[in-house]
Amino acid sequence: MSDTVTYSVHGAVAEALIDNPPVNATSASVRSGLAQAIRTMESDPAVSALVIRCAGKTFIAGADIKEFGKPMADPGLPEVMAMMDRATKPIVAAVHGTVLGGGFEVALACHYRIAAPGTKFGFPEVKLGLMPGGGGTQRTPRLAGLAAAIPLLTQGNPIGAQEALAANLIDAVTTGDLASEAREFVGRLLAEQRGPRNAGALPMPADEPALFEEAKTTLARKMKGQTAPLRALEAIRLGYAMAFEDAVKQELAIFRECLAGPQSKALRNIFSAEREVARIPDLPADTATRPVERVGVIGLGVMGRGIVMAFATAGLPVVAVALDDEHVGAARKSIEKMWSSSVAKGSLAQDAMDKRLALIEFVTDAERLSSVDIVVEAVTESLAVKQGVFAQLGEVTKPGTILASNTSFLDIDALAEASQRPEDVCGMHFFNPAHVMRLLENVRAAKTKPDIVATIMALGKRIGKLSVLSGVCDGFIVNRMLSKRSREGFFLVEEGASPAAIDKVLLSYGFPMGPFALGDLAGLDVQAAARASRRASATERELRADFPEQMVAAGRLGQKTGSGWYSYDENRKASPNPLTSEMIAAHAERHGLALREIGEDEIRERLLYAMVNEGAKILGEGVAPRPHEIDIAMVNGLGWPAYSGGPMFWADQIGLEKVLATIERFRAAHGDAYWTPAPLLVRYAGEGRGFYA
Ligand code: COA
Repeated sequence: MSDTVTYSVHGAVAEALIDNPPVNATSASVRSGLAQAIRTMESDPAVSALVIRCAGKTFIAGADIKEFGKPMADPGLPEVMAMMDRATKPIVAAVHGTVLGGGFEVALACHYRIAAPGTKFGFPEVKLGLMPGGGGTQRTPRLAGLAAAIPLLTQGNPIGAQEALAANLIDAVTTGDLASEAREFVGRLLAEQRGPRNAGALPMPADEPALFEEAKTTLARKMKGQTAPLRALEAIRLGYAMAFEDAVKQELAIFRECLAGPQSKALRNIFSAEREVARIPDLPADTATRPVERVGVIGLGVMGRGIVMAFATAGLPVVAVALDDEHVGAARKSIEKMWSSSVAKGSLAQDAMDKRLALIEFVTDAERLSSVDIVVEAVTESLAVKQGVFAQLGEVTKPGTILASNTSFLDIDALAEASQRPEDVCGMHFFNPAHVMRLLENVRAAKTKPDIVATIMALGKRIGKLSVLSGVCDGFIVNRMLSKRSREGFFLVEEGASPAAIDKVLLSYGFPMGPFALGDLAGLDVQAAARASRRASATERELRADFPEQMVAAGRLGQKTGSGWYSYDENRKASPNPLTSEMIAAHAERHGLALREIGEDEIRERLLYAMVNEGAKILGEGVAPRPHEIDIAMVNGLGWPAYSGGPMFWADQIGLEKVLATIERFRAAHGDAYWTPAPLLVRYAGEGRGFYA
């Protein structure tokens, strides 16, 4: 039928087999192959039905993302679906794997659906800033009702085969071989003389405006700032205003608007960047990895515990080492408590928790690390202490054991030298809470061997993390960029902006929280310690803006003490803290600072451009191999809204020339020390290009 669709006839049943790796997307040749298969089946009097099936690990997982933004070759998916609607013989989708987006829509346009157990169904396109454009918003509610259809169409999370069956979205779940059960299913259809059945011909379910209102509230919380989910909701409503055929046309028009919009462009870039960061430019894809069967974690504070949990959750045996029995006991208790609360909430089964705990060996003797293949060090953030630990690790571990530090700010090259085995040393920088946060910054130090880089990237994937590779620098990607935002936040406060006003600007930009709320959450003592580590190189102005230190001195450490930039009640609900305005007023008086009104645009540009400029330095220095790493790290590590694409993509959309001009303006007002533009930014702006291209 085409390069990707094979047609075969088995008795009275024809089969169209799609084989378009990697995910059987509805590329042009799939669409034309399907159209041809439908035509052939219709015109062959010996054939009574058509089964559509896919080779490989999945049924169609969506439209071909790579075709988006390019002119669409004929036939379009709507035309193929219209052919299905007009077909005079039944068409059955026999599905497995991930039936997503356009793939789910193709299945819904078929007359019957039969699925292998374990199949997932969903409309993830909202996560790409899109919404279903192939009739999904019309067929789904007609089959499943509004209560099931609305979350499926607007939130992007898939459902399983049993749930799809219960929602009337599929007709059967197989127990054996999909292809043969599909033919049997068709045999029964033919025997019972059941012909084509179009979901589009069904009436819309009874309208329930309250469900739409409820969905808007849910989306404002769960999909904050995103336009596509609301457009999907709007598209469902079309079914109440016009005939199916017209609603489908309007739905496609909305899809096209989404596709052309900035959020989809940004989210699609994030989708491909997430996959791109797994490929390291100077590391051959076939680089051998070292076997990792058993891991060690040394240092069982908050980070160490989270890392132990992350490994054990992935089924890896862990040797967890702390200083003494007291630390070991506290760590064990805290891990048990966290998992027990998941069990109590029903998100973790008791036997799964027991299995995880059984994988962890809590010890005080570092010699026990002689059995592991990798050790992640998570002791106190002090160079001297960590150097001592690395010297010890170099001795107690077997040759070839990977020695990874979870340091946030310290020089991994110095730790590498202390181990006497610098080629085995790297960084694995987890984010707090380490068993929850998806991002992992893997750090390649000066002498780290390539196979270690390959191993820790693979290990990150194995434990469900999204790993980005960073070089050695102060704070790696996320904390280095964050420290510039924090600094700019303190300067803005010194100039007259209130912390609450600053937080509000970033919240409305799309961050989950602003810098001051984040400081309270992380702990102002932690922030003060990070500042202390940079004291030697700090400017006078940086030293003067000593708000974290002032608050630590006053015992205000943030959420954990109930008082920081904000006040917190026993449920950690924030309210304005009068002590904060008093502190700022006294600070201004002490240093003779004149406070002024600062507009939202200036606040936003100073906070965000400070990060963009630092990102350009990180890129120019080669700390991040590509802008992709920076955007993925900032979206997943700091909550930069994915729908603006991350700092580098966002700057590209504004235009680097414009970004540079603003930075130059800030430089004139605030000085070279803070606003010297990154050389790479200057160069790219001059060349009229962006960070990506
Ligand atoms: N169009 C084109 N290529 C696609 C694609 C699509 N819809 N979905 C996935 N791919 C590609 C990926 O880019 C990747 O290519 P690469 O190996 O060159 O990087 C490859 O398929 C494998 O995808 P990956 O995500 O790494 O594999 P996985 O097994 O972890 O996940 C999916 C498979 C289908 C669940 C996942 O890729 C996915 O969610 N895709 C998007 C589905 C979607 O949004 N569909 C609606 C589009 S409108």
